[in-house]
Amino acid sequence: MDRESYESVKEEIKRSADIVDLVGNFVQLRKAGKNYVGLCPFHSEKEPSFTVNRERQMFHCFGCKKGGDIFAFWMAYHHCSFPEAIKDLAERYQVPLPQRQMSPGEKRRKELKEAIINANQKALKFFHETLVGSSSAEKARAYLKSRGIDKAVIEEFKLGFAPPKWDKLANYLSREKVPPGVAEAAGLVILNNKGRYYDRFRDRIIFPIFDLKGRPVGFGGRVLDNGHPKYLNTPETAVFQKGSLLYGLHAAYTHMRSERKALIVEGYMDFLALWKWGLKNAAATLGTALTPLQVRRLKGYVDEIITIFDSDEAGRKAALRGLPIFINEGVRSKALLLPEGHDPDSFLNTFGSDRFADMLKNATPLLEFYLSQTLVVGNQGLEEKVTAVRELLPRLLEVKDPMLRSAYVTKIAETVGIKERIVWEELDKLSREGGSADAGATQSSLRASLAIKYNRDMHVLNLLIHHPEVASDLSDCPWEEFVQDECTCKLIARFFDKLKKGGQFAPEQLLEELEDEGARNELREALMLPSFYDEASAQLAASEIRRKIDEIRITSSIREARERGDMEQLNTLLRERARLHEDMLN
Ligand code: UTP
Ligand code: MN
Repeated sequence: MDRESYESVKEEIKRSADIVDLVGNFVQLRKAGKNYVGLCPFHSEKEPSFTVNRERQMFHCFGCKKGGDIFAFWMAYHHCSFPEAIKDLAERYQVPLPQRQMSPGEKRRKELKEAIINANQKALKFFHETLVGSSSAEKARAYLKSRGIDKAVIEEFKLGFAPPKWDKLANYLSREKVPPGVAEAAGLVILNNKGRYYDRFRDRIIFPIFDLKGRPVGFGGRVLDNGHPKYLNTPETAVFQKGSLLYGLHAAYTHMRSERKALIVEGYMDFLALWKWGLKNAAATLGTALTPLQVRRLKGYVDEIITIFDSDEAGRKAALRGLPIFINEGVRSKALLLPEGHDPDSFLNTFGSDRFADMLKNATPLLEFYLSQTLVVGNQGLEEKVTAVRELLPRLLEVKDPMLRSAYVTKIAETVGIKERIVWEELDKLSREGGSADAGATQSSLRASLAIKYNRDMHVLNLLIHHPEVASDLSDCPWEEFVQDECTCKLIARFFDKLKKGGQFAPEQLLEELEDEGARNELREALMLPSFYDEASAQLAASEIRRKIDEIRITSSIREARERGDMEQLNTLLRERARLHEDMLN
């Protein structure tokens, strides 16, 4: 696609889309004045600084400074390139797309991904048809039945069976014209040392894993007996990364969104059992601990995440590992530890969904769970308690919000029954030993970002954006001396430039013309803020700025005159400054 048709598609999409609606699908937004705000999906935060503005069709995060239009949002949210964002959004808003030219590398990567998904689709069909139709799958059907998985679930999640042969799938794929190299890149077949391809999955129940668009990106395969390994998964491929996928999410996310709550379980079987029993707002991790990426994605749909763990040691450990992630992402989280010997699947199929719902109601907030697990197990003496606190503290260092951290320190001290001061001292010691986060640094960066909102630079920008007729007068005085930040300086210079050349303009226009990213961020931030002044006070603010500039200039001249010993000049300047102050008081 050439530049021109790109632009026209882009414009057409902009006409059809609304940024508040689009972003609202992924981030929970609430109205705040003219803007909408929510928790930023791009960095950890507790208080919403992610802001969306309908009038300007822009978003901006006051915390991490990410921002831009719908395309910038789509790219950042889905980790994709600009052309991919155009393609996705064109599809979403039904804007026809002319063919475009890609770089050879881009084209190869894209073709490989598409080829892998195509191969996966063929494999899914093969596995699924084998499970439902083949006589070789008799024992697989019986097995699923014995585990309480009915036909509806098999259909809905396209479960399958890989026959107990070495090359059934390999042969099928080759008949279906899937090149062996692609089948290998998809992780479906493996090359042996005699140069022959054989099936990765053999004699296993197959659980296809879908992305959010519902495309099969990988598979999990379970043995029918006690063989090892119990589960075999697709290795990491161009389209399959375990840490950013959740099993079942493509089907569950609308339910999560309407219930504002997500249940996270550990296994395929657990997910399917929950689904069958009507608990449809769940998803399963793929044998790894929950990652920040997964939590960040979920927090767009939900207010609370309940993680359900097996009662074994591994489950307990996994629950504990999740704590800092949830805290840092600012998502309310609870943990549910099932009774000895049960996972969600076995519990539901033994006791039913009412008992399960009761247990869910009593899920413990994660920190309390953590404390109770590490601290109050048994009747520990002081020494054990201190050891347990020492284990907990490194996790606490990962909590970035200082207020939150301090609340946790209080809570821990209370629970254990030791003085808060001692917990702080231990924490201090740990961070000096080179713990992960530096308390001082995060605190000062927080303060710095707050200060920026209210500094003088922002006031000049605010005038320029909302009252250009008033602010344009400032262009003929040495305003540079008043503005502190270099990026803002560049930005204001460009503003005056454009005003001088073409008269008034929509300030968003300037965004596209700025090469400097810092300057762009500054402008975007300024664009999100409402006017600080009404007409009358804008005039006043402008003359105030003028006077401040005069004062800055006189003060520096006074210093110079004093250094030169030019008494006459010094006296003139001092008088001038006195007059300026008088003016200010009138
Ligand atoms: P579990 O051993 O708890 O399996 O592993 P499960 O889901 O309860 O399975 P059933 O009930 O015995 O059939 C939890 C998850 O860990 C991953 C899988 O994703 C599994 O669903 N896992 C487990 C593996 O990847 N490989 C394994 O060998 C075992
Ligand atoms: Mn199980």
